[in-house]
Order: sequence, then C-alpha cells, then structure tokens
Amino acid sequence: MTNPDPCGVGLGLRWEILDEVLAAGRGELDAVRFFEISPENYMRRGGFIPDALSQVAERHPIVTHGLTMSLGGTDPLDAGYLAELRRFLGRFGASWHSDHLSFSGLGGALLHDLLPVPFTRQTARRIADRVRRAEDALGRRMAVENVSYYLHPGQPELDEADFIGEVLERADCGLLLDLNNLDVNAANHGFDRWEWLSRIPLERVVEIHVAGPEPWGDDLLLDTHGAPVRRSVHELLSWVIERTGPLPVLLERDNDVPPLATLLREVREIDATFRAALARRAASARRGDAA
Ligand SMILES: [Fe+2]
Repeated sequence: MTNPDPCGVGLGLRWEILDEVLAAGRGELDAVRFFEISPENYMRRGGFIPDALSQVAERHPIVTHGLTMSLGGTDPLDAGYLAELRRFLGRFGASWHSDHLSFSGLGGALLHDLLPVPFTRQTARRIADRVRRAEDALGRRMAVENVSYYLHPGQPELDEADFIGEVLERADCGLLLDLNNLDVNAANHGFDRWEWLSRIPLERVVEIHVAGPEPWGDDLLLDTHGAPVRRSVHELLSWVIERTGPLPVLLERDNDVPPLATLLREVREIDATFRAALARRAASARRGDAA
C-alpha cells in the first residue's frame, strides 16, 4: 500500500546519521517532513539496516530514489532488479519512484556512476520507452532527475531543457528537478539558469533536490553534495515554489556529512525559503482574486 505523498522539506537518510535519527527524541525531527532513501542501500540486506528503516518509516514518510536503473543505457532493463524493487516499494515509498536521466552500465557491467547521455531525439525516445517499461514493471509512476555533467557525449541535437521536455512528454512521467544540478551545470557550462527553468514543464515536477557543490580549481564546480546549499540554489527554489506551490524538497548531503543537528539547521533554512515562496504565491493569488 502506498502512503500519502509528503510535502515540505525532507532529508536524505544516510547511514552516517542513522543512529542519531533513531535516537532522536519526540519533536526533535519535526522540521523533517520526510526521509529519502536509495532502495539499493536496503534491498538484499538483512539485520540492522532494514530494521532501522522500518523504525524510521513508523515516524516519517519515506520517498525512494534509485541509483542503478540506467534509464539512459542500452542494456535491457534488469528484470530481477525491477521485481525486487517492486516488492520493496510495496513496503516503503510514495506514489512515485525516481531515477536519473543518465546511464550507469554497459555490456552488463555496472559502473556505479551517473554518466550523461547524448541530448538527441533518438536518446529521448529510447529513455521514454524505458521509463514506460519501468512504470509497468513497478506498478507506479516514475520521475526522472536531471543530472550534473562535465562534458557532452557526442554532438547534442537538443539543449538540455528541450531534451528533458522531450523525454517527459514522450514518457508522460514526472520530473525530479535537481536545482543544484542545474546551478552546477549553468556555472560550469555558462548558460542562463532562469532561461533554462523557463522552458521546463514545471507542472510535471513531483519533487525537488537541493545540495551543495565544491569548487575545483578556479572555474569548475564539482557536484559533491559535500557542502551547504548555495544562495543561488535558494533563489532557484524560491522561484520554482512560487510557481508550483507546495512540493517535497529534499536536502541531499552525501559527503562530509555533518552531525544531525547541523543538517537540521540547514533543513530549517530551506524551509524558511520554501515558506516565504508559498507566502508570496498566496499573496499574489489574493491580489489576482481581488483584481
Ligand atoms: Fe539529486
């Protein structure tokens, strides 16, 4: 059975903070509206880890975000993985499951990386077909996430925003909009964040990710999820929420994971941005009603 979908600011459930989350007293985690997990970290395991997840799920909604579906790949989708994932999503997760607009395997080898795909119509068609197959196999809606990339594989036929739009329309699926990946790509490739966003079908967004990158040299940002969220990403979040209304917003922190108290402070900062955007949205709706 699927639980009601969460809304507001959530936190990635990393093993580094699992003990603190389990030990947290009543009310300590009130700022966290949901936890996001990667099923790959919990499936095919027994003992403490799945037990701990069950305990967390008693108190918080769980959202699932996969790492290894390789939607952009050319190998057939892994039927065994999908069957196991379907069973897992029957216990944990929201009404959608997400994975990345990337590929992570070739010729049966799993590369444990999220590699960029060529922005071509043929690739968009192939990914859309795989998304639909995954939805059939999982029995629920899929959302695809825009990834960070440092180079284009091959000659792009479309730019990224048009490519994403093409996949979404052909697959009729949801979008997991990663605003940090947008911010990092815009900084590294020198394109306009706002123009990119203006061409994204925001009505398809089911979840937002925010995170912080780290500089590498003078002019490259590395998408490490190892630093606080940048001011520029707060600005993007504010712009999107003002237009979409309330959505689940996830703080991703995967490297240099600080103590839970530090992450909770950052969750509250993101929540302040989120609430201010909703207040602006409500105020402009009232002005519209009055007009
Ligand atoms: Fe993300």
